Amino acid sequence: MSAKPTSRVAIYPGSFDPITYGHEDIIRRGLRFVDRIVVAVAQLSTQRKQPLFTIPERLELIAEVFADEPRVEARQFEGLLVDFAREQNAKLIIRGLRAVSDFEYEFQMALMNRQLWPEVETLFLAPDVRWSFLSASLVREIASLGGEVGDFVAPPVRARLMSKFRRSPARGRRP
Ligand code: PNS
Repeated sequence: MSAKPTSRVAIYPGSFDPITYGHEDIIRRGLRFVDRIVVAVAQLSTQRKQPLFTIPERLELIAEVFADEPRVEARQFEGLLVDFAREQNAKLIIRGLRAVSDFEYEFQMALMNRQLWPEVETLFLAPDVRWSFLSASLVREIASLGGEVGDFVAPPVRARLMSKFRRSPARGRRP
């Protein structure tokens, strides 16, 4: 007898300020294992950072980057991640691991989330090596100083960064 098919939903949480090619890569890899991914944009990150983009702007950019992919949905959340995951009926949290330096923070969060909700699991995915040094905070800094970020973020994200820092969106390419 075949098992009843059920939809597998994963949460991919983060600040996404803004979404980078590294995030995009993790989401597309994650889609190989689940039916749907809810990209959960946090109102407040555990590592408090001064945001550049508002939550609606970040959601809009994620939607633009994944305009081709109906299995990806961006939602904001506040409060505990595990509560949001429960609401979404998702028992899987996806996080990207770029380097050993990410490990301690990620491991701590995964174990704490499991303590808060024993049914939840965290799946760590490694990005393509091209994105192993990439972070949204570096992208923000480079853009703010007039550097080129077209190698790190999708064209709509680059355009929005340029307009935040009042530069012309002349260039931009896919990886
Ligand atoms: O992209 P980030 O900033 O590393 O993402 C961190 C995030 C948003 C996943 C983490 O701060 C989080 O889950 N915040 C929600 C509040 C929460 O559940 N805190 C307890 C974490 S164990």
